[in-house]
Amino acid sequence: MKQVQYTCPYCGMNEDDTEGLKKHVVSQHGTDPLPLSPRAIRLTINQQNYELKVEPEWTLYQVIHDKLGFIGAKMFCDRGTCGSCTVIMEGRPILSCMTLAIECDGKTIETVEGIGEKDHPLIEKYVEHHAMQCGYCTPGFVVTAKALLDRNPDPSEAEVKEALAGNLCRCGTYPQHIKAVMETAEKMKAE
Ligand code: FES
Ligand code: FES
Repeated sequence: MKQVQYTCPYCGMNEDDTEGLKKHVVSQHGTDPLPLSPRAIRLTINQQNYELKVEPEWTLYQVIHDKLGFIGAKMFCDRGTCGSCTVIMEGRPILSCMTLAIECDGKTIETVEGIGEKDHPLIEKYVEHHAMQCGYCTPGFVVTAKALLDRNPDPSEAEVKEALAGNLCRCGTYPQHIKAVMETAEKMKAE
């Protein structure tokens, strides 16, 4: 069964891949396939600058995980429902599986690797509270929690729950995340 089809923006015809779509646009519509060509984008990820060419259909997840090697973000649902691919862009948590890389030109991004490098107290509290089992969802939770604490250093339990509501864990570690985030906030206040 075909999972993905690429639709011609001029006539609506579907092709199986981008190469087929490019050929179709050139042969049937006689137009320059520039809108479908790779574009150079610049990203600042964890304070390092990157410039690379991306295909128009590549997601930000494909770029940061597959091309640049930031493997902390995880692919789980690929449908914007689980939060495991979360990164922080311009201070806000976003789903990298639902974001086109081409739209991120010039943006500043923080991944779980950057959070770990800074030795953020969240890491210590996550370990202390064993807020993971298989660990697959954990980076997405940590990144979402970091974004919360950046904008609200003193969240209530309800605010933590609300912030993490978009992150799913098949292992059922939810209570541990609340404890880890609340204690991180307390520790940061005390420092
Ligand atoms: S993999 Fe992106 S939201 Fe699930
Ligand atoms: S720890 Fe296994 S999915 Fe969350």
